[in-house]
Amino acid sequence: MILGIETSCDETAAAVITPDGRILSNVVSSQADLHARYGGVVPEVASRRHLELVTPVVQEALRDSGTTLDDVDLVGVTAGPGLIGALLVGVAAAKAIAWARRLPLAAVDHLQGHVASLYLEPDPVEPPFLCLLASGGHTMLLDVQERNGKPRVLGATLDDAAGEAFDKGARLLGFGYPGGAELDHVARNGDPSAYAFPVARVPGLDFSFSGLKTALLYAVRKLTAEEGERRRADLAASYQRAIVRALVERTRQAAEQIGATRIAVVGGVAANSELRAALAEARAAPLALCTDNAAMIASAARFSNPIHYPGYLGLDAYASTA
Ligand SMILES: Nc1ncnc2c1ncn2[C@@H]1O[C@H](COP(=O)(O)OP(=O)(O)OP(=O)(O)O)[C@@H](O)[C@H]1O
Ligand SMILES: [Mg+2]
Repeated sequence: MILGIETSCDETAAAVITPDGRILSNVVSSQADLHARYGGVVPEVASRRHLELVTPVVQEALRDSGTTLDDVDLVGVTAGPGLIGALLVGVAAAKAIAWARRLPLAAVDHLQGHVASLYLEPDPVEPPFLCLLASGGHTMLLDVQERNGKPRVLGATLDDAAGEAFDKGARLLGFGYPGGAELDHVARNGDPSAYAFPVARVPGLDFSFSGLKTALLYAVRKLTAEEGERRRADLAASYQRAIVRALVERTRQAAEQIGATRIAVVGGVAANSELRAALAEARAAPLALCTDNAAMIASAARFSNPIHYPGYLGLDAYASTA
């Protein structure tokens, strides 16, 4: 069995999977409520909460899966990118478990983890495929040729990530944090052609969402509070349409450029209903595996080189890959 641990942002998560990718348990404890009043994740608050939660969350994952540490053969943990203090809690917990049980440890890249959400049962996706990774911190087009090894980056966002654009737009419209899912929900009752928000066309296969956010800000400013309230669904639907169009256009363009026959979508924004419908030809990660979770980390651990004792004692977390 593989035990996965994920603490890169504000979800404390642990999961147990089988070597062939069956999920036996997948526990996610979200700290969203804790950070909501600040309108975003407060790194130090997140680290402290991870510290309190990591042991009970791992225990719950083992209990739910009907296994004990005796059954675990490999520990996989997110080593980066993410909030450094938050990552260190998961890395320290994983080292302690690996050391105590003399198990190998796999240091997993969080973004490879998102991609590996596609390799789990019951319906795994086989490379090669073009992967749109759209999350709270990243928006990338990846040429995935094999399950192990780093995919080639074809394009990335030049400013905000798609999830960040959703969250910032949601905030302007008065939704709570993180507002992507709520914006998606409210947009269903709105007219997506009510406002013509811009789709940035930057060169190559990159993305840009900062102009769109400013366009929404100006549109909201023109309205009285009462009008804003009344047009909220239309604003949400039009804003979402612009983000989805940008993602879909670029993804299709990239697929054509590299001659990809298969397209997949992963990351929190892959949960968006309009994106899933608009990219109907693509394989989207299962809804429960779009936002941060440890099943995807355990999945990726299967394809990374395990580090043996005492090598992993020197393992460090990293905030960014740059
Ligand atoms: N239905 C939805 N529609 C749009 N956005 C959504 C939806 N559900 C979740 N999101 C967005 O997904 C993001 C969270 O995704 P995820 O957990 O993958 O990101 P992250 O881990 O914070 O970032 P990264 O993986 O880049 O480090 C948030 O921005 C959230 O608003
Ligand atoms: Mg993530």
